[in-house]
Amino acid sequence: MVLEQNREAWSGRTVFILAAIGSAVGLGNIWRFPYVAYTNGGGAFIIPYLVALLTAGIPLLFLDYAIGHKFRGSPPLAFRRIHKRAEFIGWWQVGICFVIGVYYAVIIAWAIRYFFFSFNEAWGEDPATFFTTDFLKQDSESTFGLDFVPGVALPLLLIWIITLVILALGVQKGIGASARFFVPLLIVLFAILVVRALFLEGAGAGLDAFFRPNWSALMDTGVWIAAYGQIFFSLSVAFGIMITYSSYLKHKTNLTGSGLVVGFTNSSFEILAGIGVFATLGYMANISGVAVDEVVESGIGLAFIAFPAIISSMPGGPLFGVLFFASLVFAGFTSLISIIQVCVAAVQDKLGIGRVPAVLGVGGAATVVSLLLFPTATGLNLLDIVDNFANNIGIVGVALVAIVAVTWALRRLPDMQDHLNSVSSFKVGVIWRLFIGVITPVVLAYMLISEIIDRVREGYGGLPDGLVTIFGWLAQTLVIVVAVLLSFTPWRRSDEELEHTESTEAGESL
Ligand code: ALA
Repeated sequence: MVLEQNREAWSGRTVFILAAIGSAVGLGNIWRFPYVAYTNGGGAFIIPYLVALLTAGIPLLFLDYAIGHKFRGSPPLAFRRIHKRAEFIGWWQVGICFVIGVYYAVIIAWAIRYFFFSFNEAWGEDPATFFTTDFLKQDSESTFGLDFVPGVALPLLLIWIITLVILALGVQKGIGASARFFVPLLIVLFAILVVRALFLEGAGAGLDAFFRPNWSALMDTGVWIAAYGQIFFSLSVAFGIMITYSSYLKHKTNLTGSGLVVGFTNSSFEILAGIGVFATLGYMANISGVAVDEVVESGIGLAFIAFPAIISSMPGGPLFGVLFFASLVFAGFTSLISIIQVCVAAVQDKLGIGRVPAVLGVGGAATVVSLLLFPTATGLNLLDIVDNFANNIGIVGVALVAIVAVTWALRRLPDMQDHLNSVSSFKVGVIWRLFIGVITPVVLAYMLISEIIDRVREGYGGLPDGLVTIFGWLAQTLVIVVAVLLSFTPWRRSDEELEHTESTEAGESL
């Protein structure tokens, strides 16, 4: 057994929990969850959502923690230590993080601009036209244009510089310190926002629309798929983040206890976001004299079109706008840090190089790709395609392969269970193994197959097939091919170091 002497570490469990919450609570909570819940049965969605959380989200969070903590590595190193042939799974996760990171940063950049637009309601009378035409300079005629949009590119560059500086500062001084600052700040800002929303006229009707259960939705498999998809993205499980973060934990850390705190905090935040968003939409419906369902918009439209319209119509609107967009920026920012950290840690582990060169190399590459593709006349469509394929095919695919490999091909689940139970307060047993080994892979396989069939049959969102082929299918295939190739490249560390490694700081307790 080899000791990993130089691996960075969190100073304690609290900072790890804050960083994990910072990663989980992101754009997915604020603009994705309310709409997904509303369109999938409203109040009734809470049932598949909780089932997904308990049968897949939290069990997978435990599995990610067990892999990262037991094998002390970024995903490629951790999977390499599980089995030589499993390394590509880790690189696949790294690739997905890279792809998500390059567009995730763009949405944060938009939110930064909208934070400033809020002060004078710069979007004017028609926020929809302002967003697509004036702000993003989208060109509906061109299918792919590289005409640069400086209004997006500059805040995007800023976001990347700050993210890379924080990553360069390290696990504790950079990621940990920023989580300690941003997570409490986000909770306070968002709480103020939700309380304000609840006092708006019409809030009750909005909440009624949000929570009114449509029980027949429970018979629709699409609703269950939506619930599982939401949980994976939102909890940041199955794409390498939690493996990476838990690899920096000290030996005796209560893993399952931490997982429960993170999982329930994330879901509470998500439901709070649903309440805040729908109370606000209720107000909009009220002043426009229409039903709530007529003002509901999906993710991007909700944040950047519906909310600006509401802000303009509300007393004290600018302050509400500033709070809303600041919340989006802070929530997205701590998630982006975690996403790019996966890529940085993987390169550090593989090449045995320091953090700063790894940050400059990987972060620099992500910055360039992000800046080249998205602040363009077709950036919005590209983002939509990449987001859909990365989430519904990439994450679901890699989660399925990882689970089948660990559980069935390599039969390591009992080891993981022993590891979790040796350090944690909340013990896992046969039910956990059943959820991970049987229920989750069955749901994932169903999700993946039905998504692939739908995309092949229908394309995506009415967007040009060429774009969908390149930025959807080809991009996801490329991630897998590159992952396999990288798994054949040599490690710059001794065979001994590639063996299963466990830290043995005896008696260290957090
Ligand atoms: N978990 C992050 C989010 O919800 C990625 O946005």
